[in-house]
Amino acid sequence: MSADYPETWMFSNSEPPKPSKLDVDPADVLRILNLHHLSKLVAERGVPMHGAPAVGLPLHSNGHLGADLVHVKAGDQFPVHTHPGDHLLLSLGGRGTITVADVTYVVEPGDIYMVDGLVPHAVGAHPDSEHILVAIGAPHKAVDSPERMAWTDWLGRPVDAPILPSSVQGDAA
Ligand SMILES: [Fe+2]
Repeated sequence: MSADYPETWMFSNSEPPKPSKLDVDPADVLRILNLHHLSKLVAERGVPMHGAPAVGLPLHSNGHLGADLVHVKAGDQFPVHTHPGDHLLLSLGGRGTITVADVTYVVEPGDIYMVDGLVPHAVGAHPDSEHILVAIGAPHKAVDSPERMAWTDWLGRPVDAPILPSSVQGDAA
């Protein structure tokens, strides 16, 4: 019981009044970032991502759920991979790709797509454009963490050398 309550309540069956608001400092629990601003910085200031030709800026993470801003140069692709958690991907700038079962679809700013982490997949940038996207994942791993993804073949079997998607075959635009 809080020391702020009258001492008599310590011996009463009645509950002390509930505070109408949580006793928190908003600055301690709320962090607002602007994706339009950060998307201009990610290519230059992003951290190299483990196992992929991309850089990322950490946005938010509580250790379970997290989001990162990712930049992929024109034509670059993540290797085929899996990971324990699923992720939501939001295309923010340029033009990108998402490949599942070696079929590649083009995504554009405003497209949001969910990928099952245990289904082998690859994200990337269109050959003609960089791609900036937000990756929201749970469980969340740091952008440079070796645990963020594991290289696989299209059947999900671990591989030592990266396998890249064959080509851009579809167009979601
Ligand atoms: Fe992934």
